Amino acid sequence: MYIAKELDRELEESLQTTWNAKRVEYDNDKFPFNKWMLSRIQKMGYTKLNDLTEIHNVVPDKEVYKVTKQLCADTNLPEFRRMVNNFVREVVVPKGKLKTPVGVQRFLNVRIMLPNKPEGIFPFHTGLLYGHGPASRSLWMAMTDVSSDEMRNASMQILDINESRRLIQMAVDKKLGIDEMTEAFGKHSWQCKVGPGSLIFFTQENIHGNFINDTGKTRVSIDFRVAEARHSDQLCRKIAGGYFEIIPDTDADEDWRPRDPNRFNNGKRNLVYLNNATSATFGIPVHLQRYMVNDYLQKNKLVSEFELFELEDLSHLPTLNYIVGTLKSNAVCYSVFALPEDKAFRKKILDMALANGLIMHFVNEDMSIANERDREKVEKLLAFAKFGQTAIGLPSQTTIDVRGITKVA
Ligand SMILES: [Fe+2]
Repeated sequence: MYIAKELDRELEESLQTTWNAKRVEYDNDKFPFNKWMLSRIQKMGYTKLNDLTEIHNVVPDKEVYKVTKQLCADTNLPEFRRMVNNFVREVVVPKGKLKTPVGVQRFLNVRIMLPNKPEGIFPFHTGLLYGHGPASRSLWMAMTDVSSDEMRNASMQILDINESRRLIQMAVDKKLGIDEMTEAFGKHSWQCKVGPGSLIFFTQENIHGNFINDTGKTRVSIDFRVAEARHSDQLCRKIAGGYFEIIPDTDADEDWRPRDPNRFNNGKRNLVYLNNATSATFGIPVHLQRYMVNDYLQKNKLVSEFELFELEDLSHLPTLNYIVGTLKSNAVCYSVFALPEDKAFRKKILDMALANGLIMHFVNEDMSIANERDREKVEKLLAFAKFGQTAIGLPSQTTIDVRGITKVA
């Protein structure tokens, strides 16, 4: 776990002020997240629903989980994504005093908290305890109004960052169990008084959680995270690409055209390429990489004739070179971070792939390179993540040398 004292001064100041469980207003007419959500649920067939606080009276209990999962998936629809990206550019970046470029969580969390369902309560926790890095910023947005005193137990409860740090240290020292933490943290917490048109900015160190919702009304919320490029080496397990998508600085630079379903038919053979040869792939077991690659092949109706594995310790990636240069096949890679860390060498491989009319697939990030524009997007992500300069996915004090040996810097 990171210790606050090690954070750089600017980040620490931002966490202590702007992002320390602060309420922020936004224009709900311009960004009608709550109305979009209601219409999505209605489109699922619950036409009688006209108020999100009534979900428990309209949607049968056992269908609520399915509705929640569908809403989470729908947050990736272009119409919603466009609203979120503009919201981040116009509200979150200026009000959060963030510097672009920024990454936005790819799939947002939608939560439906029914009244009187103690089993659905998340214990009090912090983002750091869930593997998020200290430079990641969280937003909590209530889709139903929980700003009044009567709605206290329908809202999220939160604690100040310094109080949270003190209590987490105590929980570590005293080895507190979940029940003890709930009690110790809960009594210092306060209600997030927000509704459509306002939200809470908070850090990965603010303890937060819920009480049992005894208000008789359903609460619906969205939460997600954003991250700045300048602190991208402090995102711990939630690295750019898989978790965060880097958004362009303006809406005009976005490309919302639907993807061509035939874009991967280039008449070349597809070969699965797995490696443990870069700092970011070093610790990812090959069988887990394979699960994700197989899922991607199926989803995209691609067939791979066989799989090739990079030679251990060889950072000049001879297998990848062989696939692209000799076999002239499309490489289905687990991640963009399986590419060479050295920029000049990466350029050589990608130049060769494009010259041979190949497609490079990157499963974890759901990206591909078939032309210069695609390459630019991948390079932007690699630059954001400081690929080649920092040991992505490994603890920040650890580096990997050319022979694949981890050592403490
Ligand atoms: Fe949380």
